[in-house]
Amino acid sequence: MDSNYSIGVFDSGVGGLTVFEEIVNALPQYNFIYLGDNARVPYGTRSFDTVYQYTLEGVTKLHELGCRLIIIACNTASAKALRTIQQNDFLKFEQPFKVLGVIRPTTEEIGGLTKTNKVGILATSGTVNSQSYVIELNKLHPQVQVFQEACPMWVPLIENNDFNNEGGLYFIKKNIQNLLSQSPDIDTIILGCTHYPLIMDIIKQNIPSHIKVVSQGNIVASSLKDYLIRHTEIETILQKEGKRLFLTTEDPNLFDEKAKLFVKNQINSQIIEI
Ligand code: DGL
Repeated sequence: MDSNYSIGVFDSGVGGLTVFEEIVNALPQYNFIYLGDNARVPYGTRSFDTVYQYTLEGVTKLHELGCRLIIIACNTASAKALRTIQQNDFLKFEQPFKVLGVIRPTTEEIGGLTKTNKVGILATSGTVNSQSYVIELNKLHPQVQVFQEACPMWVPLIENNDFNNEGGLYFIKKNIQNLLSQSPDIDTIILGCTHYPLIMDIIKQNIPSHIKVVSQGNIVASSLKDYLIRHTEIETILQKEGKRLFLTTEDPNLFDEKAKLFVKNQINSQIIEI
């Protein structure tokens, strides 16, 4: 049996690196290929069809490059494309593979964290409008009431390193207040966008300390670890040389520069067309 396959991690840009870092820390032995579609970021304000099409192209490229397990490390793409790819597109691929998202593992975890059963979601417009968190939480934890706030400015502010000034802070505070004003009993807030952990300190400064702020990276990483234990048919075909390859659809220098905001080690990415 071939065992030369990698784990693919797909995101609209650099945000997925917050998830990637945690996954790699938890599973350092595997080979990883990270693909950021920086040429077409942001996905969060785009239509369902566009996000689905872009995500399918990214997943197809990672599959071509030898990934047989692909994590869509982007909430917007997980919300808008994952199910359609799983249901409609798998049959088109000759080599079977698995695609997992970030919303399901996050919602699985949340039921055990809230005491008041009132959970807030901060996410992109695409994720909020898809209702994916509401649907998944209703399925898994029907007792939990979900409150959402779309933060369309946050990704551009973070991508441009423009969040820690008067203009940036205005939007961050406004969105948090909008969320909190929906219920005084929210005790848990999910950062439902891979970019948001980057401004965790600012978010926490604007949220009462009794409210838990949950980012996804470690949740997704431990869920993936568990998945590989349960799915030995995939685990055994994955190559374990600890290699990392970073690909971007835009200027690699820009990717490497932006990546510094997200990861500790210097990244040397390569450009790829998808
Ligand atoms: N990474 C995306 C997410 O987690 C946000 C970035 C974008 O809008 O493309 O939703």
